[in-house]
Amino acid sequence: MASTINLVVMAAGKGTRMKSATPKVLHPIAGKPLVQHVLDTMAPLPAAARIVITGHGAEAVEARTRGEALRFVRQMPQLGTGHAVQQALPALNDSAPTTLILNGDTPLVQECTARALAEACGGTKLALLTVVLDDPTGYGRILRSPDGAVLGIKEHKDASEAERQVREGYTGMMAAPTAALRRWLAALKNDNAQGEYYLTDIVAMAVAEGVPVVATQAPNETEVLGVNDPVQLADLERRFQRREAERLMRAGVRLLDPARFDLRGTLTHGSDVEIDVGCVFEGSVHLADGVRVGAHCVIKNARLDVGAVIHPFTHIDGESQPVQVGAGALIGPFSRLRPGAILGREVHIGNFVEVKNSTLADGAKANHLAYLGDATVGQRVNYGAGAITANYDGANKHRTVIGDDAHIGSNCVLVAPVTIGAGATVGGGSTVTKTVPAGGLTVARARQATLPGWQRPTKKAKA
Ligand code: UD1
Ligand code: CA
Repeated sequence: MASTINLVVMAAGKGTRMKSATPKVLHPIAGKPLVQHVLDTMAPLPAAARIVITGHGAEAVEARTRGEALRFVRQMPQLGTGHAVQQALPALNDSAPTTLILNGDTPLVQECTARALAEACGGTKLALLTVVLDDPTGYGRILRSPDGAVLGIKEHKDASEAERQVREGYTGMMAAPTAALRRWLAALKNDNAQGEYYLTDIVAMAVAEGVPVVATQAPNETEVLGVNDPVQLADLERRFQRREAERLMRAGVRLLDPARFDLRGTLTHGSDVEIDVGCVFEGSVHLADGVRVGAHCVIKNARLDVGAVIHPFTHIDGESQPVQVGAGALIGPFSRLRPGAILGREVHIGNFVEVKNSTLADGAKANHLAYLGDATVGQRVNYGAGAITANYDGANKHRTVIGDDAHIGSNCVLVAPVTIGAGATVGGGSTVTKTVPAGGLTVARARQATLPGWQRPTKKAKA
């Protein structure tokens, strides 16, 4: 695009049909608010001003919406889309001849579509994005003369029966010459079925002034669908996920079922990555060459190195500190890796094992029913079933250090801070509170004792 634009995103409406306390534009698709999708997609456009019009739930929308050089203007009360853009006029930069107006509730619009719309305007024409729909109920209709020239937009509620037969609807996205927009908006009236100031009325004004109006059809329906209720929200979520799934599959990722795949963030990957059904990826996830993820795993903020295998029903959560899984590691089924879990090569973490803020060196294994919190675990350590690091004294967290090649027996409690020497063996059922020397066997539990011939109590006969 040769020149810069003003970008205006309308996000003041209530979204009554969502039947929600949350403002409509903050409802998420792929974990991200609708309006944020629009802003992120448009971030590469050269904009002299980026303006979001807020109103309903303005404080929440402004607090949760971000973008470079973003400006919010408030529309109170909300008297229609024309009234909304009127509020943005003081914030428009007149050095940008084109003003692009988008809807905050139409999240899947693509950058190239918006760019083409702005180019069609070119600071001189009024450019409208339209869509031909089987059922255009609710949409403003594009009225054309017999020779095809656009005459205006008629809102559904104001349209006659004949006008409602028109299947070409206005998508809610336009690009207008900035100077003319100021003039037209100043002349808007609200003498219509809804008593609102309609942005769409400027089309007839442009025609009356002899300003060319160009209407281009959207490249596909998905890009221009808006969200008005939870059904449409879910529909757009699936369309978004399908788009992401196809992009990944084209890049070589094997999804066993693209309809059962959810990405709520960014997924980067090597080659020969395979993902079974029902997995959710959040935040920033990297899957290196040959990684396999089993069914129904939830993975957030994690790096999985070459050939790591995640068995089904595993939850990896690197929310505050990313999780790292080393090359060739085997995780799950039913494992839980929490923030700061750093696993070396060929580490094995089995069912019902929880690891938090702990480093496990190459070849360490914790295969069953165990907890490792705030621990530093050496190479090839075998951490037995039911072993627990007691890392919390009720006020502070303490570290457990386990040297290379140590064996921790089943059902041990390692009361931190404590150190287990390299090569040590800790007998099953031990409660360890003191340093365990390297190399030996340490047992810290009552000795087994037997009372020979001991009689079990019997019930007394009733008198
Ligand atoms: C609008 C268009 C209609 C188009 C349709 C596409 C007008 C008059 N009509 O109708 O031609 O087919 O979008 O979806 O423009 N908003 C405000 N302030 C307001 C009212 C709305 O900021 O006072 C915002 C909403 O948050 C939303 C957008 O404008 O992002 C569209 O508002 P909505 O009420 O959904 O307009 P429609 O009646 O659907
Ligand atoms: Ca709408």
